[in-house]
Amino acid sequence: MSGEVAPTDPGRAAAGPPKRPQPPPVPTGVFGAAQGTLGRRLVLRVVALVAGVAIALAMITALATRQLLLQTLDGQLQDVAGMLKPGPESLLLTPGGQPDGTFYVLLHDDGKYADSKLLTDQRGRKLPSAAAAALTEVAADRQPRSVVLPGLGSYRIIAQEISLLPGGQFTLVTGIPAGAVDRTLANLIIVEGILVILATVGAGVVARPLITRSLRPLNRVAAVAQQVSALRLDRGEVAVGVRVPAADADPVSEVGRVGQALNHLLANVDAALTARQASETKVRRFVADASHELRNPLAAIRGYAELTRRDRDQLVPDTAHALDRIDAEAGRMSVLVEDLLLLARLDDRPELDLRLTDLSELVINAVSDARAAGPDHRWELDLPPEPVEAMLDQHRVHQVLVNLLANARTHTPAGTVVQTRLTPGHDQLMISVRDNGPGIPPDIRDHVFERFTRAEVSRARTAGAAQGGSTGLGLAIVAAVVEAHDGSVSVSSEPGHTEFTITLPVRPTPHLGAPNSP
Ligand SMILES: Nc1ncnc2c1ncn2[C@@H]1O[C@H](COP(=O)(O)OP(=O)(O)OP(=O)(O)O)[C@@H](O)[C@H]1O
Ligand SMILES: [Mg+2]
Repeated sequence: MSGEVAPTDPGRAAAGPPKRPQPPPVPTGVFGAAQGTLGRRLVLRVVALVAGVAIALAMITALATRQLLLQTLDGQLQDVAGMLKPGPESLLLTPGGQPDGTFYVLLHDDGKYADSKLLTDQRGRKLPSAAAAALTEVAADRQPRSVVLPGLGSYRIIAQEISLLPGGQFTLVTGIPAGAVDRTLANLIIVEGILVILATVGAGVVARPLITRSLRPLNRVAAVAQQVSALRLDRGEVAVGVRVPAADADPVSEVGRVGQALNHLLANVDAALTARQASETKVRRFVADASHELRNPLAAIRGYAELTRRDRDQLVPDTAHALDRIDAEAGRMSVLVEDLLLLARLDDRPELDLRLTDLSELVINAVSDARAAGPDHRWELDLPPEPVEAMLDQHRVHQVLVNLLANARTHTPAGTVVQTRLTPGHDQLMISVRDNGPGIPPDIRDHVFERFTRAEVSRARTAGAAQGGSTGLGLAIVAAVVEAHDGSVSVSSEPGHTEFTITLPVRPTPHLGAPNSP
């Protein structure tokens, strides 16, 4: 048994209630509207902007503070450099106001170490040799600069030329500790880092509800559009009852303009649907009325033809033949009129006479009738062992079976095997009619369930048929009846294999309440 109908499957067509369009899922959750991409993007952008501005401000503040601290330190350094009383080839340090850790290094003009003093606890001692060695390359340009000295740490230094008698020219390097500046800057950066984090988190916390609230009108407009997109507007009596609330359709705001435009669109759709519905109703009523009115004159024509044929012996052969033709065509027209009437009724408001029906028996009877009508075909039945009962309109479903079996008989050559299978299920049951005939002509295969669709060959074949004939309404009736039962019908056809599959939902039976099971 073939599975679900795939509309893109070549050689396969389907009819039945069209699938309801599925609206895209609405974002929900803690984040509410902001969980949607726009909300989330806005929150992220606000957070990124605040973080960027906070980081930039923190960097500017840190650089400015460093500059300020170094300027102060450099002023101190200049003062300290002037406090030295150099003696001949040595440094006579008089402690007097220099910060602890200040040093002086005296270098010969060829860069060689001459002397040094390091002030710790207001007492002078020699500078560690590693630190002194690191200062031999310093240019005597009187420009303060930062260095890190081994064993002493971060320093601000300045170098200048001095002349000592009788020693000649020397370079004096003066340094004061810059650790305090580094520590102050480090502390400032830590505080600023904390502030940046707080500002970023705060921006996220504040921006989220604000943006969510700002997006609420847009969400309401989207909800209306979503509601409308889920409506089945393609058929039947429909009206788009929903509108964007007036508060969200105020053209002052951007969202309001969208809401207003959507309301206009919906009003237009409503008007178009009403017009379509009115014209469909008119056409349906016309077809129903016309079919109904045609019934009586047709019956009269057939009656008179029958009456006249009783005196057949007195008629010339041509007249007798003409009467036969009148009777046959009137019979064909009656079938057509009945079919049209039935379709008009099914279109209008399909009222089904749902009763608990023995579907197995219905299928057996239909196949027996088909066997009687087409003894040259091979009729096979595949039924489950247990009788299948279902809530159905038995006359209509019987007609469906009759139409399918008639097709398998009339559109296939003698000797064709026609297999009818009934498959019960928990939620739905399936009836399939399969034949190994020539198949449905490809040009009509995709729309066999539409009214008046029939192959050219069918027209030709039945044009001269004596009784009944091909109207192209049989499968349209099948589709309409199945649809009225909320079921679906599909066909797959190729030369040597044509299979119609009807799927009917299992409705709870009044007294059993439980569906059939296989
Ligand atoms: N089992 C089948 N094998 C081949 N062709 C088929 C089969 N069933 C239907 N068809 C094709 O589909 C067309 C439409 O079938 P449908 O039953 O709607 O109309 P019809 O049989 O021509 O006329 P009627 O209204 O008398 O049933 C047919 O004319 C035929 O060409
Ligand atoms: Mg038919």
